[in-house]
Amino acid sequence: MKTILVTGGAGFIGSNFIRYIFGPGGFKGRVVNLDKLTYAGNLENLIDIELAQKGRYNFIKGDICDFKLIEGLFKKYKFDAVAHFAAESHVDRSIFGPKDFIETNIHGTFALLETARQAWAGRKDVRFHHISTDEVYGSLGATGKFKETTPYDPRSPYSASKAASDHLVMAYHHTYGMPVTISNCSNNYGPFHFPEKLIPLVILNALSGKPLPVYGDGAQVRDWLYVEDHCAAIWRVMKRGRPGQTYNVGGNCERKNIDVVKGICAALEKYEPSGKNPALKGPYVGLITYVKDRPGHDRRYAIDFSKIKKELGWTPSVTFKEGLERTVRWYIANPGWVHNVRTGSYKNWIKKNYTR
Ligand code: NAD
Ligand code: DAU
Repeated sequence: MKTILVTGGAGFIGSNFIRYIFGPGGFKGRVVNLDKLTYAGNLENLIDIELAQKGRYNFIKGDICDFKLIEGLFKKYKFDAVAHFAAESHVDRSIFGPKDFIETNIHGTFALLETARQAWAGRKDVRFHHISTDEVYGSLGATGKFKETTPYDPRSPYSASKAASDHLVMAYHHTYGMPVTISNCSNNYGPFHFPEKLIPLVILNALSGKPLPVYGDGAQVRDWLYVEDHCAAIWRVMKRGRPGQTYNVGGNCERKNIDVVKGICAALEKYEPSGKNPALKGPYVGLITYVKDRPGHDRRYAIDFSKIKKELGWTPSVTFKEGLERTVRWYIANPGWVHNVRTGSYKNWIKKNYTR
């Protein structure tokens, strides 16, 4: 791979991925990051990359649904790989307003596939990698894990839109022979996570003495993976995964939501004790508040990642305790990033500092 088009590279996982491939991933080529900069896209996530990778990193503000723009980019940069992260990613938002999810996740993926098909004209030395989710498989009972062969059963507008995009990606392989791969991953956490998602929301609410909202009975189970481990898995699949294959990626780390929230409180007590925090009147756990459940809330996710382990030698490397502590420390150490994201002023920062 010489020139990779990364879509959604200003978001949580995309920005971690760009940092990972230029660092531990050892990538020597060029990255073009195409991102629409929705509420979730933040160029402050990539300041270090902008500075350190001049000439090897370009940012383009734009929409993956814009055929003309993407065609122009394929002509100009002659991409030989696509890492497709761009998406509307938050389940709650998809419940309140599914339209953007259908447009970006389905139409946008189609626009990328169709443009790549025409630009690559049957080439086999290229790769279209689609980043997807375990949510396409639906909800598990008390036992069992999602395998690559588990039938799709998406249950939210978000997961339905991701399932549709997965099917389109595979259709381009079966119909046109495009060398595609898909990774279906469980819940990520780590630095640069937008604070609408459970872990960063709870960290930041707790630090400000606000309630920690736990949906329903808090007994829903998610399988947590530190974001850098996910990035390593994606990179392996892009380099060595077999075309036309799906790889499940997970953390072997099932936790009930309530236990995740209590784990965050414990990590906060270690690094920013509630007794010394002027926003608090008691311990962090005292802020836990059960609230109305998410409609159609999936009960349990768990991933069987034996395929990627056997074929590509990937396994998660960061334990949940270590990952959570790193994440808590990162949010404590980056009040500027937090302030800009919470007040929306990162959008002004982009206008002021980013003129290309
Ligand atoms: P995110 O919401 O943090 O980032 C999404 C990025 O896509 C943002 O930078 C946004 O500006 C950009 N974007 C949105 N619409 C766009 C459009 N039309 N054109 C161009 N750019 C657009 O999401 P994330 O958590 O980093 O997730 C990235 C990908 O990984 C998504 O495809 C998601 O489905 C998948 N995924 C996420 C998780 C997770 O736990 N976060 C787990 C498994 C899979
Ligand atoms: O499984 C992979 C998916 O993980 C990704 O495809 C999605 O893009 C990503 O957002 C994530 O989806 P979830 O819905 O699992 O993540 P979220 O952080 O929103 O919620 C995690 C769990 O915590 C879920 O069971 C809902 C619950 N929750 C969430 C929030 C925001 C709460 O109890 N309280 C909250 O305030």
